[in-house]
Amino acid sequence: MTNTSPTPAQYLANGLEITHLHHYHMTLQSIPATAQLLQQSGQALAQGSRSKVSGTLNHLCQALFQLKQELGDTQWQALRKELVEHPITALLSEAPQIKHSQEWPRGYRGDAYMMDLIYGTGRTGEQLAHTSRLGKSIHETQADWATHRAAIRRLRTIAHAVDEQAQKVGKPIAILSVACGHLRELSFCHTWQTQQFERWVAMDQDPRSLALIREKPTNDRLELWEKSIVSLLRQPQTQQFDFIYAAGLYDYLQDRTAKLLTSRLFELLRAGGKLLVANFTPNTLEMGFLEAFMDWPLIYRNMANMTDLAGGLPEGMAQFKVYHDLPNENNRLVYLEVTRKNP
Ligand SMILES: C[S@@+](CC[C@H](N)C(=O)[O-])C[C@H]1O[C@@H](n2cnc3c(N)ncnc32)[C@H](O)[C@@H]1O
Repeated sequence: MTNTSPTPAQYLANGLEITHLHHYHMTLQSIPATAQLLQQSGQALAQGSRSKVSGTLNHLCQALFQLKQELGDTQWQALRKELVEHPITALLSEAPQIKHSQEWPRGYRGDAYMMDLIYGTGRTGEQLAHTSRLGKSIHETQADWATHRAAIRRLRTIAHAVDEQAQKVGKPIAILSVACGHLRELSFCHTWQTQQFERWVAMDQDPRSLALIREKPTNDRLELWEKSIVSLLRQPQTQQFDFIYAAGLYDYLQDRTAKLLTSRLFELLRAGGKLLVANFTPNTLEMGFLEAFMDWPLIYRNMANMTDLAGGLPEGMAQFKVYHDLPNENNRLVYLEVTRKNP
């Protein structure tokens, strides 16, 4: 029997939706527009001025975002594998974030060293000093991405939330940072700068994250817990904290774990205490690029998904709200804020 189905090229020529292509084995050849875009982008990067690099990269982000939505997951994953071998990847990896993501040297994605490259903190300057002109232009473009700006803004949001809670409680508060990384929010936090807290617990599974924090001048009220969230999920908890937050963690947790963790963290709150959790949203325009060239898939959540995470909280004891950070940046981040009511 002859197969009368149109080829992928015919589908595209006829202007049909690319979603009809799911039953084909995806290769770049079967999506010529993307193959051409990558080739042109590679040429522009190789020859380009800084503004050309920036325009090229941003155009690529938009195209990959759209393509990821249009292809089914199987085809998108197949395409990702192919892109690793594409010559453009070698050019892109002149930029420190992209290079780091090709190795993920700590064995997991989204380590605190990468966050430093995004925030421009830590050893970013040193890295850039040893980066090519092209690499620097790519880095500058990434620094201007709304997603990266949102990540930096997240530091300030958290710092200000700590300060607000300290003011509300009216005496030194106990704070827990879950998956703390390098704790870069400290530079924005008045409570930290004045050292007016009862204790600040910084918890992370990675000893290298904590080792860097240890290098800072500090006092014994900053406690470093080398622990995975698994220990929080397993053990019964007692109320100890006035403010608990998690940034850059829930984006990696499946719904079941995220919901359970939310309940466990709630158990750790004192009466009047607050929990703040951040997550990137499906509006993250850079997600296709992050997955294709940085092997960095996240679990994106919208407001309804964040509301679901509060579903296991004890009725009558918890009050919560869900909000976006900045509407004019296309809502890259969503926050869940839970308060334990005073009895
Ligand atoms: C994306 S970074 C975020 C760091 C920091 N909170 C920030 O906002 O910059 C993720 C951090 O979560 C930590 N982490 C990942 N999985 C974890 C787990 N299961 N338990 C504890 N920490 C974890 C990593 O070691 C890393 O430092």
